[in-house]
Amino acid sequence: MTTTTEHPDSTSTGRTVLEASGLKKTYRMGSVPVQVLKDASIEVRDGEWLAILGASGSGKSTLLHLLGGLDLPDPDGGVVSHRGRTVSSLRGAGLNRYRNRDIGFVFQFYHLLPELSVLENAMLPCMVPPSRMRASLPLVSAAAGATIGALAGWFLGDVALPAADAATPTMLGVIAATWAVVGAALGVLCFQIIRVVVDRMRLKSDSSATETRRTLEDFGLLHRLKHRPSQLSGGERQRTAIARALGNEPRILLADEPTGNLDANTGREILDLLKKRHDSGLTIVMVTHDPKVAAYADRVVRIEDGRVLEDVPTEPGPRDHGQSS
Ligand SMILES: Nc1ncnc2c1ncn2[C@@H]1O[C@H](COP(=O)(O)OP(=O)(O)OP(=O)(O)O)[C@@H](O)[C@H]1O
Ligand SMILES: [Mg+2]
Repeated sequence: MTTTTEHPDSTSTGRTVLEASGLKKTYRMGSVPVQVLKDASIEVRDGEWLAILGASGSGKSTLLHLLGGLDLPDPDGGVVSHRGRTVSSLRGAGLNRYRNRDIGFVFQFYHLLPELSVLENAMLPCMVPPSRMRASLPLVSAAAGATIGALAGWFLGDVALPAADAATPTMLGVIAATWAVVGAALGVLCFQIIRVVVDRMRLKSDSSATETRRTLEDFGLLHRLKHRPSQLSGGERQRTAIARALGNEPRILLADEPTGNLDANTGREILDLLKKRHDSGLTIVMVTHDPKVAAYADRVVRIEDGRVLEDVPTEPGPRDHGQSS
């Protein structure tokens, strides 16, 4: 899971791996359009750590979502390209591959699945997406359950009611329909139980589980593998989210305020983890509103009035002192 390429140098001018030009993004609040990105262009070079600074509401998350292919710019609102390929025109499997393999995304508010453990959350990107057939299984189970329920209802109504009050076809229909609903619910429930059991068995035997365990060990989470997100501290949740983002060994990590919800010490721990990965070759694009956090990066840009301004001088950071503050 660890990458092996040495990071060239903090002044790296590697080739461009991710680029956005002339991005426009407008949200609608009812009938009122709110243009967040007006003409945002940005270039990310191979092996660099780029920080995007900006005030709250300036459009940092919006820009990162567009870079990560999680949202689309306005029609005719610019282009995002990854290694020369236009991301904004990818669809279906191509887009999934980009989101799942080429980049890793750390969300501002973790977005861990509450019903899964630390290990299962971190393993999510390694799981094979369900085939079309498997995706339709809940519907098939519901239909099978409903049919069995309806037949059982009809049969029970027919034989169980005393002959004197023989059920009218309408009564039988109501009984059958009620049982069909119960049957459908039971069908879906059985399917879900079987799915969870099978997934857990697969997880235990999967070799990528070993890799994910190693990353989680690296991140100091080995003693928390079976915990649910609600049983974790903020820092542990963030480390789980970063481990998940690195699950498929992406070359680029997009991190949205990775320390935004953490105290200073925990924030430093997270930044040191990122620095270790960056030193091993990971390209990082990190959004933050905090100049001290931005100082970890090789290069800082600022987002203002819907545009990206280059070459913002920053206060001396850990890189300049050769240590993490
Ligand atoms: N889905 C949406 N619908 C309407 N407006 C939105 C939507 N998403 C974001 N916005 C608005 O767009 C603006 C930019 O949002 P964005 O989340 O990109 O800001 P940000 O720079 O990441 O802020 P923060 O530092 O607080 O996370 C905000 O004013 C926000 O209210
Ligand atoms: Mg944000």
